[in-house]
Amino acid sequence: MDLMQLFKGRRTYRRFDQSRPVPEAALQDMAQAVRLSSSARNAQLIRVIFVTVRDLTEAMFDSVHFAADLPRELGTPKPGEHPVMYAVLTYEKKTRWVDTDAGILLSNLTLSAWAHGVGSCIMGNIDRKAIANLLHIPEGVTIHSAVALGYPTHTSEIVEPDDDLNYYLDEQKNYKVPKRPISELVFENRYPE
Ligand SMILES: Cc1cc2nc3c(=O)[nH]c(=O)nc-3n(C[C@H](O)[C@H](O)[C@H](O)COP(=O)(O)O)c2cc1C
Repeated sequence: MDLMQLFKGRRTYRRFDQSRPVPEAALQDMAQAVRLSSSARNAQLIRVIFVTVRDLTEAMFDSVHFAADLPRELGTPKPGEHPVMYAVLTYEKKTRWVDTDAGILLSNLTLSAWAHGVGSCIMGNIDRKAIANLLHIPEGVTIHSAVALGYPTHTSEIVEPDDDLNYYLDEQKNYKVPKRPISELVFENRYPE
């Protein structure tokens, strides 16, 4: 896939075909994408747990919160639309750069998933204590974030922002995600006045 198409398509997806598991080839590429991530001083401190067993993914569902900007009946996936997999990022040693390392890793992971048509939702609004219990994550290991994954059953399209930057759903319940124009984000040679 063309790189810009990959960037455009790798949006946040929140409803999935729960009858379609993530295939082994995609899992392997995601694992490799995790491995190839850059990290400060090449310390590679982040560990990722792939959660693929249905009992656990269903239990994970109760510990994650979808779409804070939408009413629950619109933003939270219904039975049959739940993620079929999660990736949970953890670290033992907090460094100054752990969030940067995690961001790079999240980007690699979600892009490699999307290259297989697997949609994702990066999740920071999660119940870390419940997830730690569920996945036997020991004391001293911190959960950074999670990613919900599966084949999406909706589209997500970039639109021009008007009054605000809140994402919303159209009549077909497809996502629309406002992005600021390049001219507001990227400057040449000097900061604008
Ligand atoms: C660090 C981070 C945390 C996020 N946490 C959540 C979350 O807890 N729940 C959720 O539904 N979406 C979450 N998102 C997804 C954002 O809402 C989404 O990225 C944003 O609306 C822009 O959409 P886009 O990813 O399609 O560009 C998170 C995204 C990031 C980068």
